[in-house]
Amino acid sequence: MPALVLLGAQWGDEGKGKATDLLGGSVDYVVRYQGGNNAGHTVVVGDQKYALHLLPSGILSPGCTPVIGNGVVVDPSVLLSELSGLNERGVDTSKLLISGNAHIITPYNVTVDKVTERFLGKRKIGTTGRGIGPTYADKINRVGIRVQDLYDESILTQKVEAALDVKNQVLTKLYNRRAIAVDQVVEELLGYAGKLAPYVADTVLVLNRALEEDKVVLFEGGQGTLLDIDHGTYPFVTSSNPTAGGACTGAGVGPTKISRVIGILKAYTTRVGAGPFPTELFDEDGEALRRIGGERGVTTGRDRRCGWFDAVIARYATRVNGLTDFFLTKLDVLTGWEQIPVCVAYEIDGERVEELPYSQTDFHHAKPVYEMLPGWSEDISKAKSFSDLPKNAQAYVKALEEMSGAPISAIGVGPGRDETIEINSFL
Ligand code: GDP
Ligand code: IMO
Ligand code: MG
Repeated sequence: MPALVLLGAQWGDEGKGKATDLLGGSVDYVVRYQGGNNAGHTVVVGDQKYALHLLPSGILSPGCTPVIGNGVVVDPSVLLSELSGLNERGVDTSKLLISGNAHIITPYNVTVDKVTERFLGKRKIGTTGRGIGPTYADKINRVGIRVQDLYDESILTQKVEAALDVKNQVLTKLYNRRAIAVDQVVEELLGYAGKLAPYVADTVLVLNRALEEDKVVLFEGGQGTLLDIDHGTYPFVTSSNPTAGGACTGAGVGPTKISRVIGILKAYTTRVGAGPFPTELFDEDGEALRRIGGERGVTTGRDRRCGWFDAVIARYATRVNGLTDFFLTKLDVLTGWEQIPVCVAYEIDGERVEELPYSQTDFHHAKPVYEMLPGWSEDISKAKSFSDLPKNAQAYVKALEEMSGAPISAIGVGPGRDETIEINSFL
């Protein structure tokens, strides 16, 4: 019953795409369980680079069936263009399965996302503008449109009418925008129905049968633990549950089925958009991390905010996800620093705090307490085993492992599939 969850342990962009792709060759199904095309996963295979937003990274492994679970929000136009882009590059996408219960990001959800952010002004979240929050809001408000609705024109029309009833009032009276016509939306959505039809399936049944047959299923999280709507730095979060429990609700698989939960952990920290970030750097070290690490958003092209590793966050991720392993990425980026600061605790109003404070006021005031670890200057990108790493790099990894509360079972030393040191097998 090998069901693995692979998720971001920080604020996203930890290298989940690479890690999923690496395992993709040995698993039968890779399942996205939440989020949508706010995700940006870069996968490098040989000299080819792929940027995936909505499709599970397993789509690049020929033996693997990619699945978009019920917890995902799907923008059909983005999905179809991502599929055709991959087809043009010779990638077979015919095995893809999409849950009929997944919600659709409609054009009005994208509009509402953008106008809301503009309206918030200085208080904005810095969303990706892809309609994610408004689509999940419609789902919770029970006025969402699901993939299966595309196959019943009458129901679709009624649901779009219900959704636009209130939204058009808000758009015209509050935001001073033009009303959106029901017919136009229905026509656009019906235009996707035929193209998506070959992929639509009862994914809950498929996945549970696969697990009964001892197939290997990998659940791939988008975003990260600190962007989780319940466990993240609310309100500066995304509108879904990237944490491990989200895999169960977002794919329809019971928690007793999950055998391993792998947290992807960058050897330093980054964040995109607004919100607190205790170890953020505003100096040349931050610039250097951004430059060497190529820290620019795959989805929005925005520069990522950069800072040192934060062990308080890693411990928190271990706890809320029940992590069994870490996959430490981008260790190579830290090559060349004489000393590397690591945040081991926070100082909040003069007191040392070892764990993430539940109060947002305290978190906003948290100042990092750093421990200095000795750096290394040797190129580590060709390292194949832990013992190939310079002693100080080994010590850095061991120190992070000790502070973070779960074994580091793999280490990324470059963006490529094979630029990875495997310590404990995941399967
Ligand atoms: P995701 O959203 O978690 O999938 O991560 P992104 O793809 O947005 O960002 C991670 C970036 O780091 C991508 O450009 C990857 O190709 C790259 N990457 C992943 N692992 C490593 C690594 O170990 N070393 C280096 N140098 N780059 C890596
Ligand atoms: P991957 O899967 C990093 C951030 C946005 C914003 C907040 C809310 O590549 O790790 P949203 O559009 O989701 O409502 O925006 O969440 N965000 C991400 N940051 N990586 C991501 O995905 C993100 N997806 C959303 O920048 O701060
Ligand atoms: Mg990303």
